[in-house]
Amino acid sequence: MTTPFARVTGTGSALPERAVSNAELVRELAARNVETSDEWIVARTGIRQRYLAAEGVGTVDLAERAARAALAAAGVAPDSVDLVIVATSTPDQVFPSTACSVQARLGAVGAAAFDVQAACSGFVYALSLADALIRVGSHRRALLIGAEVYSRILDWNDRSTCVLFGDGAGAVVLEAGSTPGILASRMHADGARGSILTVAGRLNQGAAAGDPFLRMDGKAVFKLAVDVLESSAREVLALADLGPEQIDWLIPHQANIRILAASAKRLGLPPERVVVTVDRHGNTSAASVPLALDVARADGRVRPGQRILLQGVGGGFTWGSVLLRM
Ligand code: ACO
Repeated sequence: MTTPFARVTGTGSALPERAVSNAELVRELAARNVETSDEWIVARTGIRQRYLAAEGVGTVDLAERAARAALAAAGVAPDSVDLVIVATSTPDQVFPSTACSVQARLGAVGAAAFDVQAACSGFVYALSLADALIRVGSHRRALLIGAEVYSRILDWNDRSTCVLFGDGAGAVVLEAGSTPGILASRMHADGARGSILTVAGRLNQGAAAGDPFLRMDGKAVFKLAVDVLESSAREVLALADLGPEQIDWLIPHQANIRILAASAKRLGLPPERVVVTVDRHGNTSAASVPLALDVARADGRVRPGQRILLQGVGGGFTWGSVLLRM
């Protein structure tokens, strides 16, 4: 039997109902004596709005909605899925995993289900893993979801982080087939640099112990992100024997418009070939890449046959890229 390839056959996404503009956020933060402005947020990050989940809406709710949309787009039944991976660092509970909760809601009984925690690189990690599992023949139809409710781990008194993030979910169906979909992928981490982006708190004896909020050295993250996005892009392109100019779309983790612009420039790609959603969604961590892929597929930019480079980078420190043909 020949080794199967793995191909994306459907995408989906979900956003909370409430879109919060910079102007609205600035007003809400002013009420807490936290001073910021639309001008600062747009100039430094490119973010104009983000979606924030209402109390009672969990990561699993957004994950399920995105998953159902991706399954419908692929035209496959939930009970035919044999692998569910959720990339998240904001699960609603310690365990069962978000993936197990989604699997139960979908009725994908028996499918392997687990979460991947690689912060903002989580979805790219999940896609690399699922590709490997499909290629070795142990699974044939995978549902991969990035889902986050970061608004719960933000310190709303820290203006250097709370303006940057949003909530949401994106999903893809990845299936075994006879033609190449995923062309190359690589995952990386440098745990020694973990301290530049952390949520250090934990559960202990019935309470949160340590700092339960996201903390970031923005400048250090910015510099490292631009460096590793370039090296990682070049690595997977070399594996597929392709040059940057042969990519139709670059879809990097949506953290900051200036990071996106700097990495496209380093690869010699014009800005028109980069999918940007950070302006509308903010940074949705592990959800950002599948959300951006789904947006670009729904609006007709991403089409069958095109080559897409997906890139994750984030806490850990982690990074990775997946080059695929739609
Ligand atoms: N509103 C107004 N002023 C602010 C705000 C704000 N929201 N936040 C910070 N400032 C001020 C600072 O206090 C500082 O003032 P000072 O000079 O008087 O001390 C000034 O703005 C400049 O602050 P810097 O931190 O130097 O600003 P910088 O240009 O580095 O931009 C930013 C900050 C946007 C966070 C940038 O460093 C960045 O984008 N880093 C990468 C962050 C990122 O993308 N993180 C996520 C990637 S990984 C992941 O997704 C988990």
